Amino acid sequence: MCSIIGYKGQLNAAPLLVDSLKQMEYRGYDSVGIAIINDGKVIVRKSVGNVSNVTEKFNLGIMPGHTGIGHTRWATHGRVTEENAHPHYGCTNSIAIVHNGVIENHRELRNELIGLGHRFKSDTDSEVIAHLLESYYAKKDIKKTTIETCRRLKGAYAFVAAFEDGRICGSRCDQPLIIGSLDGGYFISSDVLGFLKHTDKAIFLHNRDIAIIESNALQLFDFEGNAVNRETTQVAWEGSSLDKGKYAFHTLKEIHEQPAVVEKAGIKKSGKIKEFCDILGDTRTVYITASGTSYHCALIAKYLLSNLAKIHCETIVSSEFPYTLESIDNSSVLLAISQSGETADVLEAARVAKQIGSKILSIVNIPTSSLARMSDSFLEIECGPEVGVAATKSFTAQLSLIYAIVDRLCNYVLGFQANKIFLAEASREVLDQETKIQAIAGKLRQARDIYLLGRSIHYPIALEGALKIKELSYIHAEGIVAGELKHGPLALIDKNTYVIIINPDDRTHCDNIISAREIKTRGATIIGISNKPNEAYDIFLKLPFIGESILYPIIEVLPLQILAYYLALIKNIDPDYPRNLAKSVTVK
Ligand code: F6R
Repeated sequence: MCSIIGYKGQLNAAPLLVDSLKQMEYRGYDSVGIAIINDGKVIVRKSVGNVSNVTEKFNLGIMPGHTGIGHTRWATHGRVTEENAHPHYGCTNSIAIVHNGVIENHRELRNELIGLGHRFKSDTDSEVIAHLLESYYAKKDIKKTTIETCRRLKGAYAFVAAFEDGRICGSRCDQPLIIGSLDGGYFISSDVLGFLKHTDKAIFLHNRDIAIIESNALQLFDFEGNAVNRETTQVAWEGSSLDKGKYAFHTLKEIHEQPAVVEKAGIKKSGKIKEFCDILGDTRTVYITASGTSYHCALIAKYLLSNLAKIHCETIVSSEFPYTLESIDNSSVLLAISQSGETADVLEAARVAKQIGSKILSIVNIPTSSLARMSDSFLEIECGPEVGVAATKSFTAQLSLIYAIVDRLCNYVLGFQANKIFLAEASREVLDQETKIQAIAGKLRQARDIYLLGRSIHYPIALEGALKIKELSYIHAEGIVAGELKHGPLALIDKNTYVIIINPDDRTHCDNIISAREIKTRGATIIGISNKPNEAYDIFLKLPFIGESILYPIIEVLPLQILAYYLALIKNIDPDYPRNLAKSVTVK
């Protein structure tokens, strides 16, 4: 959720840290801060706002010093205020820390430390780390200090601390922390994106590892104080870059990258796909778990795997997984889908299933993520970094990969591989209707409620469209199984309601038209998304005809993403950074 970064080396730390924070801002963006060690002093600057605003306010980029730490926050404990922004420091201002995660026993620790005379300045759980480090630092032994501190902390966390003498330490426990190694220095970061511009040499710390960077040397220990060795991995991002190119926002750029994402799906690493499909095909029951948008992909995966590959599947929202364990056993496979591979709920589900003895398969965008690393086999969606907080291209990429997998499992009768180029072309045709969709957004700007209806494989797209509208425009939107309308939701429909019906010309089409007429009778405005027009629609958005109707989800989600994007713009909302949300939800 939050991003943390540290640097020690020969270069000026402040501009590097600011740039790293910009790269990772998608992880959390309600407040920003850095601490620089200069002349034996810890200088902290922090404020509410985004990286650019705060950098400008404090001239962060020009602070002198070769060692520093930085943070962007997504509030969990304590409101969004300057006091609660990181870095935090203890009473003597000799150690500053940045933290990601949750310290579960922070209340007990805070009370204990207050009893010892420590004074707290913030409402955060994080501040206890600074005071603990301070209280154990009497003998200036940074290794002992960090070990003692880590032993006291309960929860899932990663932190980095900068000491007034220019040393840095970091530690992780169920939250990612990665060292970037470069000539003459080190980064330590919650995400490889924090240092990827400067080095592709990454050392992924294991759980309960401690890193100390001192005089340009890196030492690694476990919590017992034993030296440990961790290999250096070469990391690479293929595909798109991190800038917005010709687009006003990352989200729009990422929406437009989708045709290329579809074209690419499942072509690389066929050995890995074979291994993955062998495990999947050999299984009695597959449990598919994910959160948010990735869960909507899981719902479609279930439909395809059970109907076409004839594999028995259950889907479980990851946060519900710990309560739904009755039938999972060591003959089951857990398929976890996650763009980031760092979502705490998904990782927890995978951990629990692994303990039971199930095999773990995963579909991720980040091959070095915690989820990929704990899986028996994983596949990458290969859509490049997704910066916009709302998932767009990663959804299409997950979906396309699922289609490629199922196609392979059912001897290519699904027709995804055969139709991929055609499908990418059809996606471009949908995106070409951007101006028309923008005009529809204009009509919906005053909407209080938008309902999205779909049946069968199109229902998860109704859910996904509703999620995009909620996240990006803050308008209440709800995905509903069209057949369920008359069992209750019809009571909500009146002349002020907008209903979007996802209705390609397949088995679900005629029943949806019946639903549309029932809605029309109640005065609502109907927007039909289909390859076939109908007089029941007040507004019609034409999808290209793509033959294989089961492939429609890939193109029918696109107009909904664009609609949500333009609703955000019309309402003056930054579509890249919707309020209260973070891209990577690494806390439970
Ligand atoms: C919605 C969105 C979230 C994520 C969810 C899971 O636009 O981005 O709902 O889909 O937090 O994230 P990952 O896929 O990284 O596990």
